[in-house]
Amino acid sequence: MARKILTEHINVPGIETFDVYRKQGGYTAVEKAIKTMTPEEVVEEAKKSGVRGRGGAGFPMGMKWGFLAKPEGVPRYLVCNADESEPGTFKDHHLMKCIPHLLIEGMIISSFALGANKSFIYVRGELMYVIRILEKAIAEAKAQGFLGKNILGSGYDLELVVQPGGGAYICGEETALLESLEGKRGNPRNKPPFPAVKGLYQSPTVVNNVESIANMSWIINNGGDAYAAIGIGRSTGTKLISASGHIQKPGVYEIELGVSVDEFLNSDEYCGGIRKGHYLKALVAGGSSVPILPANLITKTAAGEDRLMTYESLSDGGFATGTMLGSGGFIVFDETACIVRNTWNFSRFYHHESCGQCSPCREGTGWMEKVLHRIEHGHGSMHDIDLLVDISKKIEGNTICPLGDAAAWPVASAIRHFRDEFVWHITHPQEATAPGAVYMGEMVLG
Ligand SMILES: Cc1cc2nc3c(=O)[nH]c(=O)nc-3n(C[C@H](O)[C@H](O)[C@H](O)COP(=O)(O)O)c2cc1C
Repeated sequence: MARKILTEHINVPGIETFDVYRKQGGYTAVEKAIKTMTPEEVVEEAKKSGVRGRGGAGFPMGMKWGFLAKPEGVPRYLVCNADESEPGTFKDHHLMKCIPHLLIEGMIISSFALGANKSFIYVRGELMYVIRILEKAIAEAKAQGFLGKNILGSGYDLELVVQPGGGAYICGEETALLESLEGKRGNPRNKPPFPAVKGLYQSPTVVNNVESIANMSWIINNGGDAYAAIGIGRSTGTKLISASGHIQKPGVYEIELGVSVDEFLNSDEYCGGIRKGHYLKALVAGGSSVPILPANLITKTAAGEDRLMTYESLSDGGFATGTMLGSGGFIVFDETACIVRNTWNFSRFYHHESCGQCSPCREGTGWMEKVLHRIEHGHGSMHDIDLLVDISKKIEGNTICPLGDAAAWPVASAIRHFRDEFVWHITHPQEATAPGAVYMGEMVLG
C-alpha cells in the first residue's frame, strides 16, 4: 500500500470532529510549530519539502511564501483557494468534507509562518454544506484554544473566516478570487503587482490551494526532508487524484508522485481498469484545461518509457506528445466516447465561464464553441478545423489570466491527436449525427 499523508485517517469514524481528529494525533503539528519553532523555521520546512502548489500551476509553495512582502505596520493575509470548479477535479471537496480539521490545522500553521492574523478559506459557493462543516470545525478548534486570541498562550492571534465563493469558475483564479473576496465582481487583475506584494485589500497575500495547505501538518510533524524523500525528482510528496469517466472505480485517490500511469489506471488499488469489455481511447490527466492524450501516448512517452504520474513525466514531449498533471482531474474515455462532442462540451463551459475582460477569450471561446457545435451537428466544413486551430492560437498567451489557455488547449490537443475524428464528422455528417454514433476509424486503442 502506498504511503498516505492526507488520507491516512480519512475513514476513521467521526474524524470530522475535533475529539476524534485530536485522538489520531491532530493539532500536534500546531503545538510543535507555535511552541517550538519560529515562523522562519516553518517556512524553511515548507521550502525543504519541495511541495508544489496543488491548485494546478505546481509552483513551489515554500518559494511562494519566501516572496511575501513584509512592510512594517501592514497586515498580511493567507487565503485558501477552495473554489474548485475545474471539470474533473473534486479532491478538495472530498478532503474538506471528510477531514476538515486537516485543513484548519494547515491554515493555522501556514498563517503563523506568514505572520497573518486573519486568514480566509474561499469555498466554492455551491458547497454550502461543506461551508457549514468547516465553520463547525473552526468553532471546535477555537473552543480548544487553537484559534482566536493568544493561541496556546503564545501571544499569536488568528481569526479564520470562511467565505462562500461567487459561483463562477473564474473566481478560482487567484486575483479574481481576491476581487470577489473584497466584494467585487470576480475579474482577474493585471500582474504585476503580484498578490505577494499587493493582494487582498492591497496588502501582501499568499493564495494557496486546499491540498497544498493540508500537507503542512505532516511536514511539520515529520520534517520537510522526509516529505521530499517521497516522490521522484521535483515531484515530491503525494497527490490527490480525482478519477472519473469509464473506469471501474471512480473516486479520489492519494498517490505517491511517481506511480506509473498504467498502475494508477489499471491496478485494483486505484481505478481498477477500464470498464469491462471496453478499451482505453483517451485521457485527460489533470482536469479539463490540460491537453487530451490518445491511448498510445498515455501509458508510454513518445520515447517509449513508462509515463509516470509526476509533473515532469506527464509533460514529457511538450504539447506535441505530452500533457500536464494540473489539478489532478483524471478523466478517462473508452472507445464509446466522442472526442468532438466532448471538446464541444468543454468549449461550452469555457465560453460560459469567460469573464469577458479580454477580447481574445471573450470572443474566441464563443467562436470555438460555435464552430464545434456545427461540426458536432453535421454542418461543419473542412476549413473549420484550421479555423479552430487558428482561434486557439490567437487566444493562447493573449489574456490577463490563464483561462484563455485553459480554453485553447483542449481544442488544439483534440485536433492534434484526433483530427481524423473531426474530418469524419465533416465528411460523414449523417452517420456522425446518428444517435450514439462514434467514430471507429483509425483509432489507436489501449
Ligand atoms: C480560471 C482559473 C481557475 C482556477 N481555479 C482554481 C481553484 O479552484 N482552486 C485552486 O486552488 N486554484 C485554482 N486556480 C489556480 C490559482 O490561480 C492559483 O494558482 C492557486 O490557487 C495557487 O495555489 P497553489 O500554489 O497552492 O496551487 C485557477 C486558475 C485559473 C486560471
